[in-house]
Amino acid sequence: MTTTHFFLLITILLHSCHSLTGADDFVRSIDRSLLGLNKEEKVSHLKFYWHDIVSGKNPTSIEVIAATNKINTTTFFGLTRMLDNPLTLGPNLSSKLVGRAQGFYSSTSQTEADLLMAMNFAFVDGKYNGSSITVLGRNPIFNKVREMPVIGGSGFFRFARGYVQLNTYSVNLKTNDAIVEYNVYVIHY
Ligand SMILES: *[C@@H]1O[C@H](CO)[C@@H](O)[C@H](O)[C@H]1NC(C)=O
Ligand SMILES: *[C@@H]1O[C@H](CO)[C@@H](O)[C@H](O)[C@H]1NC(C)=O
Ligand SMILES: *[C@@H]1O[C@H](CO)[C@@H](O)[C@H](O)[C@H]1NC(C)=O
Repeated sequence: MTTTHFFLLITILLHSCHSLTGADDFVRSIDRSLLGLNKEEKVSHLKFYWHDIVSGKNPTSIEVIAATNKINTTTFFGLTRMLDNPLTLGPNLSSKLVGRAQGFYSSTSQTEADLLMAMNFAFVDGKYNGSSITVLGRNPIFNKVREMPVIGGSGFFRFARGYVQLNTYSVNLKTNDAIVEYNVYVIHY
């Protein structure tokens, strides 16, 4: 075997090893520092008000699936509203807009007023503009304080985990518009 042949053989072997060992795989481990994960985690508390505007000419929370009438209808089982609700610094809708809650809620209990909520908080304010926090959880709306998990985030809130606590600030019994205070506790980098 000449030297050239030898190197050719090695090259072929390496090449086959390359595919056998899965070096072409789409998963690989990388250094934490490449994603800024070597930094210490931050803990942030965000507080804002969520406006569920269901009435009037410009609702932000709109029924897209009606409650089923196949079972006891007192809990509006199945009712689903898609929402793009303003998030403001203070309880007054005219106070500073910090973001929007985009997602939906559905009535998911046949015996109580419980919602499944899935929302992205899309922030628009200052350095948080374009960043988001994602919440998915159970909201038993008549409890004084409800809690739902923060399951992730983007931008400023990458790798976010934590929870939100919410309590109803006010409900207009004529229109059903509601203002809810949200406190978000989140760990991120
Ligand atoms: C909200 O702010 C507007 C404008 O500043 C004011 O007219 C209104 O009374 C406020 N509403 C409440 C409930 O404080
Ligand atoms: C419907 O559910 C409510 C709340 O659980 C209950 O009080 C009521 O008796 C139920 N009605 C029927 C017809 O099952
Ligand atoms: C937020 O970012 C968008 C898109 O980059 C930009 O159009 C908008 O003016 C920004 N808003 C604020 C308040 O900085």
